[in-house]
Amino acid sequence: MKILLINGPNLQLLGVREPGIYGNDTLPAIVSRLRTLAEELGCELVDFQSNHEGAIVDRIGAALEEGVDGIVINPAAYTHTSVAIRDAIAAVKLPAVEVHLSNVQAREEFRNHSLTAPVCIGVVAGFGADSYGLALHALFSCLKKRGQ
Ligand code: DQA
Repeated sequence: MKILLINGPNLQLLGVREPGIYGNDTLPAIVSRLRTLAEELGCELVDFQSNHEGAIVDRIGAALEEGVDGIVINPAAYTHTSVAIRDAIAAVKLPAVEVHLSNVQAREEFRNHSLTAPVCIGVVAGFGADSYGLALHALFSCLKKRGQ
């Protein structure tokens, strides 16, 4: 089973970026832990971070030919703005789980709405870096039930 992890804009700054909101873990540390979890589950994890909307759209669009079975995605600020990322997820029809470190529902009003969540199978938010592991478990369980 191949899982594509996508992290959107500014997440390369985790560790230094507003640690009171996003925690002290760096993105490489989070990805490394997630890779270990994926190995324990018997999955291959491919990870991609970009600050560019089009690059994220391209990567989602290439997921089928890359043999990806499911997507864990933190679209970051694009969550609240990107019709293009939403359309890309809907187009490939791969099960995707949306992740947020922070509880976006408890923050500024502009973060309360996600354009991408409706095309995902679910959302995990508010558990800091643990949100990623919870999302991977949820996606794995969903793919297993679908027989993949
Ligand atoms: C975020 C929440 C978004 O609102 C924000 O723009 C981010 C990070 C999170 O993981 O909590 O960049 O996706």
